Amino acid sequence: MKKLCLLSLAIGLASHSVMADATPAPIENKDAFVSNLMKQMTLDEKIGQLRLISIGPEMPREMIRKEIAAGNIGGTFNSITRPENRPMQDAAMRSRLKIPMFFAYDVIHGHRTIFPIPLALASSWDMDAIGLSGRIAAKEAAADSLDITFAPMVDISRDPRWGRTSEGFGEDTYLVSRIAQVMVKAYQGTGLIGADNIMASVKHFALYGAVEGGRDYNTVDMSPVKMYQDYLPPYRAAIDAGAGGVMVALNSINGIPATANLWLMQDLLRKEWGFKGLAVSDHGAIFELIKHGVARDGREAAKLAIKAGIAMSMNDTLYAKELPGLLKSGEIEQSDIDNAVREVLGAKYDMGLFRDPYLRIGKAEDDPVDTYADSRLHRAEARDVARRSLVLLKNHNETLPLKKSANIVLVGPLAKAPIDMMGSWAAAGRPAQSVTLFDGMTRALGDQATLHYARGANITSDKKVVDYLNFLNFDAPEVVDDPRPAQALIDEAVKAAQQADVIVAAVGESRGMSHESSSRTDLNLPANQRELIKALKATGKPLVLVLMNGRPLTILEENEQADAILETWFSGTEGGNAIADVLFGDYNPSGKLPISFPRSVGQIPTYYNHLTIGRPFTPGKPGNYTSQYFDDTTGPLYPFGYGLSYTQFSLSEMALSSTTLNKTGKIDASVTVKNTGKRDGETVVQLYIQDETGSMIRPIKELKGFQKVLLKAGEQKVVHFSIEEDDLKFYNTQLKYAAEPGKFNVQIGLDSEAVTQQSFELL
Ligand code: NOJ
Repeated sequence: MKKLCLLSLAIGLASHSVMADATPAPIENKDAFVSNLMKQMTLDEKIGQLRLISIGPEMPREMIRKEIAAGNIGGTFNSITRPENRPMQDAAMRSRLKIPMFFAYDVIHGHRTIFPIPLALASSWDMDAIGLSGRIAAKEAAADSLDITFAPMVDISRDPRWGRTSEGFGEDTYLVSRIAQVMVKAYQGTGLIGADNIMASVKHFALYGAVEGGRDYNTVDMSPVKMYQDYLPPYRAAIDAGAGGVMVALNSINGIPATANLWLMQDLLRKEWGFKGLAVSDHGAIFELIKHGVARDGREAAKLAIKAGIAMSMNDTLYAKELPGLLKSGEIEQSDIDNAVREVLGAKYDMGLFRDPYLRIGKAEDDPVDTYADSRLHRAEARDVARRSLVLLKNHNETLPLKKSANIVLVGPLAKAPIDMMGSWAAAGRPAQSVTLFDGMTRALGDQATLHYARGANITSDKKVVDYLNFLNFDAPEVVDDPRPAQALIDEAVKAAQQADVIVAAVGESRGMSHESSSRTDLNLPANQRELIKALKATGKPLVLVLMNGRPLTILEENEQADAILETWFSGTEGGNAIADVLFGDYNPSGKLPISFPRSVGQIPTYYNHLTIGRPFTPGKPGNYTSQYFDDTTGPLYPFGYGLSYTQFSLSEMALSSTTLNKTGKIDASVTVKNTGKRDGETVVQLYIQDETGSMIRPIKELKGFQKVLLKAGEQKVVHFSIEEDDLKFYNTQLKYAAEPGKFNVQIGLDSEAVTQQSFELL
């Protein structure tokens, strides 16, 4: 069947060719096949392949199919079911050269089953769990006829004011790079050609997470060393893991928009890194070159983008409109267009679409009877991954876990919030299928107790914010207020709390508050939620805060008020069950923060691995003229790598196998970790290294390894890390990647601050 399809394709190509070869190139030879096809394409057909369109409910399908059949579209995104995509592929098969379409989508943390947001996935520090989430997302997406995801998003984010912090994996280069690799492999499986694998397009290339002031779409200005050292490695890791695509960032880099950046797209990506995949612009980014002020008009924008090597233009018509004229006038060359077309066809080839255009679309008779059926979800896996991603920040007097026999009142605007559970970029997830905290706790209690509930507060009393959040959503209002006055909501909650043994308050952000275009100047909980917490605290009842949010918040006061705090981020379809598992002790929390929690917005950035400074602040010795803000405690509220468990762990002193390392050797650093508490539990043992003196200033420490270990109550284990020269390398002022001889401090801890240290010399 496949052979036949291939044969007819080859015959079709030959019979319609413009300058046809007598013998069609064999499909087994990618380069020859693509070249042969390109020889037969008209200029318009080539340019058509460079067009990637978004399919919206408002778009007339008939017209799109006509355009496809005319060879004017290379791929779509946002059209996500087999019955929707099949007619488009049929239209492509009616086109002169029968070049298949591809279908893409933002599958960021799950497709139909929504897993925790990426920041939460990173909090698990569990590469198997993260990989599983990606694998399931790929399978579900491919089963819905999708070929490509615009993920993973591996932008390092060190400024939580940026709303897209939720979409990335945190502040640390090493951790994000590890996850980047895992995600690419999970999406692409054993080979892109597989029917249940999808192509990964790593984004946003590059440095999008470093937008000035955390304000979305803002500029980025960064030294080359910082780029190479801190921000670029995750993209590189994804590409080295085989990512077939790259999505180019909307921001500028040192004065040149990424979309027109020859250094970024040609010198770095293609020449230095050897990327051979498909570079796609972000939404409307080519047109935005005019807004950036580097192109006078659409013509110049198209020229800059094609010259830079942006192969596909997402949702604008500039390539179709301008490339023919630019070619005619000699402002661009045929090779500029051909290189782009080669990338698109190459990606389609790699995804197996030339062999079988219906590889992921399948046959109509096999379409799911109900696309939205619950049986298509992977609930058990989502629940397990979600509970691994929860971070216990505080647990005074062992307030948690809760007894199922307790009289519990659940309050807060996020207790019954199915949309928010999914977080932003929730792909094809359906709110009706997500388990809220109320549902999860009710189920966990069964008939052992009744869960009392009072809303207590809306997300915010600021109408402007509500309007903004609802404006972002096209289908239905995301934030629905309880119309009662704020005080009435609080009074009701307090009354219920007074009857209870313990209060659980689900507070935080609505999902839209941590999204694209949702930068904030203030990271406090909204004022009305803070009022609620204050009133609850005044009841004197034990108070558990369940935080739901897509970025670190500034919770200094609430941290004092609460007896226990569980950071749950936005935990996905099974979030309510997963959180209940932790609240009731059916799962012992094991997550660790992948990003520091600042005490205040004024402290940002608070990332742990900052450069050493000449006048460092020394805890316990404040004094003047050291680097600090004198009006607050120095350092984050909760550091990178931090997270508690219901059991306790102790770490022995570290043992180093040698105090010297030569260039070809290895040092073993080990500690004994013991579970000294009464419950089985998991923790993450983290390895940090500091290069004490170098030819340039080095960070105070950098994560270089970690292991998540499960220990039964009372059990101990020796954890080993192997250190070699590669782990000590960095980019110097000449951007040479090398290690320098000298003293290195090795630290091992259960977070980035409380560590045990030893030193060795690199010879
Ligand atoms: C804009 C976003 O920046 C990008 O991440 C996303 O992939 C595209 N829109 C398509 O939805």
